[in-house]
Amino acid sequence: MAKKIVKRSWAEPFKIKVVEPIKMTTRAFREKAIKEAGYNTFLLRSEDVYIDLLTDSGTNAMSDNQWAGMMIGDEAYAGSRSFYTLWDKVKKYYGMPYFVPTHQGRAAEHLVSKILIKPGDYIAGNMYFTTTRLHQELAGATFVDIIIDEAHDPQNHHQFKGNIDINKLDKLVKEVGAKKIPYISVAGPVNMAGGQPISMKNISELSAYCRKAGIKMWFDATRAVENAYFVKEREAGYADKTIAEILKEMLVPFDGIWVSAKKDLMVNIGGFLATRNKKVFDEAKNLCVVYEGLHTYGGLAGRDMEAMARGIEEMVEYDTIKARIGQVEYCGLKLMQYGIPIVEPIGGHAVFLDAKKFLPHLKQIQFPAQTLSAEIYVDSGVRGMERGIVSAGRNIKTGDHNYPKLELVRLTFPRRVYTQAHIDVTVESIAQLYEDRKKIRGLKMVYEPKYLRFFQGRFEKL
Ligand code: F0G
Repeated sequence: MAKKIVKRSWAEPFKIKVVEPIKMTTRAFREKAIKEAGYNTFLLRSEDVYIDLLTDSGTNAMSDNQWAGMMIGDEAYAGSRSFYTLWDKVKKYYGMPYFVPTHQGRAAEHLVSKILIKPGDYIAGNMYFTTTRLHQELAGATFVDIIIDEAHDPQNHHQFKGNIDINKLDKLVKEVGAKKIPYISVAGPVNMAGGQPISMKNISELSAYCRKAGIKMWFDATRAVENAYFVKEREAGYADKTIAEILKEMLVPFDGIWVSAKKDLMVNIGGFLATRNKKVFDEAKNLCVVYEGLHTYGGLAGRDMEAMARGIEEMVEYDTIKARIGQVEYCGLKLMQYGIPIVEPIGGHAVFLDAKKFLPHLKQIQFPAQTLSAEIYVDSGVRGMERGIVSAGRNIKTGDHNYPKLELVRLTFPRRVYTQAHIDVTVESIAQLYEDRKKIRGLKMVYEPKYLRFFQGRFEKL
């Protein structure tokens, strides 16, 4: 019988003009490569990777318009035209008057943390991000997670698992006092929770609380466009607003933002902070000179700023963000058809495999997610990343491992880079491993660097 059309497909609003060949490798080659890399996918050479889903950070394909912009970047040391072009776009789309470029997101986190945090302070946030929390801790703060409980449960279907539990915040305020909390560190979507968004309603409730308590709010707007898309799709009252309108409205309650431009803006390098606060702006400009470079380039070339400015225009196009998130969803749904446990709802930038459920015979200290990401590479040359006990690091006071509830492998999608066939190959590889999962052995850690150990830690097979 002829098949009936149930739902019409979408496709990317672009076609491919330039291609970059990738190396096809054998299983024996990959077994050797991952062993040499200490079973850490961060330590593989990218040329030995077939489909690179390590991160969506700086790995995006720029448009012809962005590449054209690179040619006309103004490479002046001071007062570059490209800087002013970018500043105008930041004002227009993020709605913040003041702007300082940085070489990437963590540099902006560094400046914001240094300016706002005093030793002994507390930073409350919706889960943590690795570099964000580290800069807050290095500035002397203790980080307190105030995300809703649902976020720690991979199978909970809450539509806004990035939301903040205001009762948790209130408890902290009562314990330490509002004066010890220089700002609330809000992210949307929340990377470590599985790319889960925060709702406008939650932001507005948080803002009402913070106004009363006299606490400032800062936003990690690294993937804010993805958050805006989820708001449009899921939250009552936003279906008819544009992504640009939602983005701007979302940021109104915040005193400032930091951004890794390597994500939403679809460039290969860049970051910035933007704020409504003139005093913070002045200090950030001053610190920028110390750590990044003059405040009109912040560690970037003029051409990078030109590409970022054009990326901002492209990131808010509805069809662009729809195709980006649509691709991630396609991968997640296909994995679910094979019964593979993933974090639900499917996130904005990545599909997260639930390694605890995938490898229930491994204890968390045998690094199930680290193990699974190494096994996927060996099976098919697909590179994902661990987001579990290794990423969570150690408790800053006790020195013990943090044991996060979420033990995940992240398959992250660079924007505009891979095709549906690449995703099919990825899914089939993981499905094969899932069938053979009982044979998979865990790992032990044999080298642990002091900071952000997931980047450079080394492991051996048990
Ligand atoms: N904030 C979030 C939410 C991020 O995901 C990242 C980076 C940063 C800040 C730091 O920005 O890398 O430009 O210094 N995330 C990358 C990732 C590394 O793979 O998720 P950066």
